[in-house]
Amino acid sequence: MLLPNNIGLDERTLLARQLASYEKKFHVWWRERGPAEFLDQPMRLRRPTGAVSGTDWAEYTMLRPDQYRWGIFHVPTNQDEIAFGEHHGQKVWNEVPHEYRTLLLHHICVQADVENAAIEQSRTLTQMVPSGADQENLFLFFLEEGRHTWAMVHLLLAHFGADGVVEAEALLSRLSGDSRNPRLLDAFNYPTEDWLSHFIWCFLADRVGKYQIQAVTQSAFAPLAKAAKFMMFEEPLHIAFGVVGLERVLSNTAQATLRGGTEDTFNRGAIPFPVIQKYFNYWVPKIYDLFGDDDSERSYDLFRAGIRIPRNFVDSEESVVRIDARVGDGLVTTDVAAEFATNAIMRRQFIAEVQRIIDRWNVSLRALGVDFQLYLPHERFGRAYGPCAGLPIDVSGNVLSPDAGAKHAAYLPTASEFANVRALMQRELVPGRYSSWIAPSATRLATLAQRFNGSPHG
Ligand SMILES: [Fe+2]
Ligand SMILES: [Fe+2]
Repeated sequence: MLLPNNIGLDERTLLARQLASYEKKFHVWWRERGPAEFLDQPMRLRRPTGAVSGTDWAEYTMLRPDQYRWGIFHVPTNQDEIAFGEHHGQKVWNEVPHEYRTLLLHHICVQADVENAAIEQSRTLTQMVPSGADQENLFLFFLEEGRHTWAMVHLLLAHFGADGVVEAEALLSRLSGDSRNPRLLDAFNYPTEDWLSHFIWCFLADRVGKYQIQAVTQSAFAPLAKAAKFMMFEEPLHIAFGVVGLERVLSNTAQATLRGGTEDTFNRGAIPFPVIQKYFNYWVPKIYDLFGDDDSERSYDLFRAGIRIPRNFVDSEESVVRIDARVGDGLVTTDVAAEFATNAIMRRQFIAEVQRIIDRWNVSLRALGVDFQLYLPHERFGRAYGPCAGLPIDVSGNVLSPDAGAKHAAYLPTASEFANVRALMQRELVPGRYSSWIAPSATRLATLAQRFNGSPHG
């Protein structure tokens, strides 16, 4: 049976046959490396309808995860001319130009690789689902990340000949966290083994996904732009799983802290605020690294070729971006032309967006009378790539003395804090009930703050 699609696959027999043969291999991968339980349990899931409007593109239906079929969907771009870069004003490409074949192939492979990796790194979360609603959200996440793989595999098979076939297969052999054949981007090699990590991941890494996908919605390579525009329909909900999930964790911890009169809430079944902060410190630098080097040759090439551009980018020769450069064991700041710093521009747009959300949460925490404020570590902190890699830097971005290793370690969760969080994560699937560490789905932080109305014990 033909894959669900809105790209006219019924008229493209050869491609349809290639995709059908890939589907068999993908299923083998999914059975080995995807979620291992609940696959035959009906749940409320969404799937694409084939429509391309922001409201009609998907429908919700009761479905067993093993009945879901991954499909290929595009949104028309109505863009005839290349929008930026060296070929600005020329006709967009429907096939890959020889000159940019390697660059595009690499870009599409990385985008595809992260999708399968996201499934692998979170597959064990089924063991500790905190409620039935969270279980449905998790499966929607698994299935749609898988669909993103299909969006990219279609491009590989339709436009890159034998190389595309090889790369599509490589997506099924690399493995998150494997020492010999790891996933391409480092952050995707760390397991999100508990739900706090998962929520931080959706809040931040799926948001990076949104930035990366949005940046190719005007791509000179039209099939990539069309696929990206459809992925932009799916990504906001993944981000919302993270935002709402974290608000429910913060609400729950706020209530436990106020009732117990102490930050140490583990024995009240809640994750302590300082531990939540340490989890942020653990994940955020890995997620900053996902944007790549500040001064990246490849990101310049993508911009110059007309493939990738940050949101609201102003193509002006005057615009410069201040970035860090490494000199010995120290840092200096240097100005580079904006088109050389598209990664840094995107990371800083991302940081500003996330900071606004954290500021909002902090307002609610203050309104509740909680003596805790969450922060986002500085973009220099804890980085594995770029000029700051390996330097002892505090969460405010100050370079520490070389012997400050212990101070750096104090920002991160200890082994026993990881274990305590894991121990709280008990599976709860009785309808209407939630695991102790998280508030019910409808409990948003701002609503809780309003309810307390300045009276923390009210
Ligand atoms: Fe994705
Ligand atoms: Fe996603």
